[in-house]
Amino acid sequence: MLTDTDVNVSWGVALDGPDLYAAAQLLDDNEQRRAAAIRNDHTQRRFVSAHAMLRILVGQQIGWDPKDLRFGNAGRYGKPELVYPPIRVHFNIATAGDRVVCAVTESGAVGVDVESHDVIEEADAAGGLEDVLLTAAERDVLTEFPHRAGALARWWVRKEAILKATGEGLTIDPPTLEMSAPDETPELLSWEGRAVPSLWISDLDVGAAYEAAVVVLTPR
Ligand SMILES: CC(C)(COP(=O)(O)OP(=O)(O)OC[C@H]1O[C@@H](n2cnc3c(N)ncnc32)[C@H](O)[C@@H]1OP(=O)(O)O)[C@@H](O)C(=O)NCCC(=O)NCCS
Repeated sequence: MLTDTDVNVSWGVALDGPDLYAAAQLLDDNEQRRAAAIRNDHTQRRFVSAHAMLRILVGQQIGWDPKDLRFGNAGRYGKPELVYPPIRVHFNIATAGDRVVCAVTESGAVGVDVESHDVIEEADAAGGLEDVLLTAAERDVLTEFPHRAGALARWWVRKEAILKATGEGLTIDPPTLEMSAPDETPELLSWEGRAVPSLWISDLDVGAAYEAAVVVLTPR
């Protein structure tokens, strides 16, 4: 059975100053171009930090120089994969607020997600997030939680981490997945129209006012 020791997860905050400069030196031309196209300074720093962290963690995992890694996009929905060296390793990154999270494993396709309570609260206030996120049964459970944004954020990261592990992302409607309650051990209970895949899921502690989760698809 997979344990959290089989998945290397790191998180941090968007870098600044000399650390940011050092991180930027690790990126390749494509990543540098993508970074340069980001107008917002904070979002740009977060992007550079996340991609440098990814290169360092993948490099550590496979014993390769982080600068020499080449990435591409796989599958119909463009999930990033390692193109060079031709070594099988799974990884995923997520960013929100000032947080960057990265997961690397050799055990199976991995997905990670992070969200801030503030952003979820804002999105909820703007349009009632429960309808785009929860099943009818989950909406009933939500009424039991005094901290609505925290509960929604935990549901959100658990579901999105699953959808990032499969590579489908938000092309799949989150309410097609039914999960355990946010204060319970994370578990995918059912998935409308398909069998529940064999997966390992864990919540991550990335600091106050954030929720994060990691998922690895495991062979049956
Ligand atoms: C994957 C997805 C849910 C991420 O959304 P998000 O909440 O804005 O961003 P997150 O911070 O959680 O994750 C972003 C990272 O996920 C990774 N990612 C991109 N596509 C992915 C996919 N299909 N599956 C898993 N991870 C993916 C990337 O590393 C990305 O970081 P980068 O843009 O800096 O390279 C969203 O982009 C999505 O639904 N994509 C799939 C469908 C789609 O739009 N495809 C377009 C290309 S065909």
